[in-house]
Amino acid sequence: METETAAALKLVRDRLLRARKVVAFSGAGISEESGIPTFRGSGGLWNSHPIEEVATPQAFQRNPKLVWDFYLERRRDALRAKPNPAHVAIAGWQERFSFCGVVTQNVDGLHRAAGSRNIQELHGNLWQSRCTQCERVSEDRALEARDLAPCTDCGGLMRPHIVWFGESLDPEVLATSARWMRDADMVFVIGTSGVVEPAASLVRDAKRCAVFTVELNLSKTALTPVVDVSLFGKCGVIFSRADGSGLLEQAPNRRRTKLSRWLRD
Ligand code: OAD
Repeated sequence: METETAAALKLVRDRLLRARKVVAFSGAGISEESGIPTFRGSGGLWNSHPIEEVATPQAFQRNPKLVWDFYLERRRDALRAKPNPAHVAIAGWQERFSFCGVVTQNVDGLHRAAGSRNIQELHGNLWQSRCTQCERVSEDRALEARDLAPCTDCGGLMRPHIVWFGESLDPEVLATSARWMRDADMVFVIGTSGVVEPAASLVRDAKRCAVFTVELNLSKTALTPVVDVSLFGKCGVIFSRADGSGLLEQAPNRRRTKLSRWLRD
């Protein structure tokens, strides 16, 4: 595991120059510089809103209004937020690599807003609701409680389309994420504490398949002993360093290379 900054950055750059398929595996920390609170640590959402009150199926059964209020607040946070240089750089990687996938634990939609297209949302999406009776999923932009608007098809109670504690992830989303990460040349593990399963195990699986893994975080995490390289600092800053030592400039623009070769020939 390489953590010394200059050597680690050089290693990551060298690998990026050779990579064809990259995956960004992100957590709440990637959106922190966009103004969205993370979950753990001081100031984390789970300190002020205990998980068992707002993020379990039992909590919703007990008090759907309280749970909806929590997620409507998350929607308002997300609406105020803009993608930061980390989201934007990752979206730009689509032009630089033959494949760039995003596997995110986040529900805020900022990867999509930045322009990423290949996205797997492991924990759902803030802007979708699901009927508790007929399971219909619909896009929903509401920002205020509308007396728990019922399903327009069956009249059932709508819930946030979020994977809560004690629930299973969508098997297709999980399988696609695992395949992308196993098949990648490099996986970037960005802004996650790595303590929530099965998400964290996707990184372990990729590592077991000899994928080169790079962590970007403020400090050590549960995945630090697993990854090949850890770069410590704010991920938006690491991606956007204007002195050219950021990660953004390090990959050759394959499309442009191809085009200029074609123009020359
Ligand atoms: P956490 O809140 O557990 O961890 C956020 C991580 O981001 C921490 O390791 C911070 O050190 C790091 N961090 C904060 N700001 C950063 C920055 N600017 N640059 C780089 N790193 C930064 O959030 P997650 O790991 O995403 O699930 O949590 C995983 C899941 O647990 C979430 O998807 C959520 C939560 O319960 C559900 O709600 C289902």
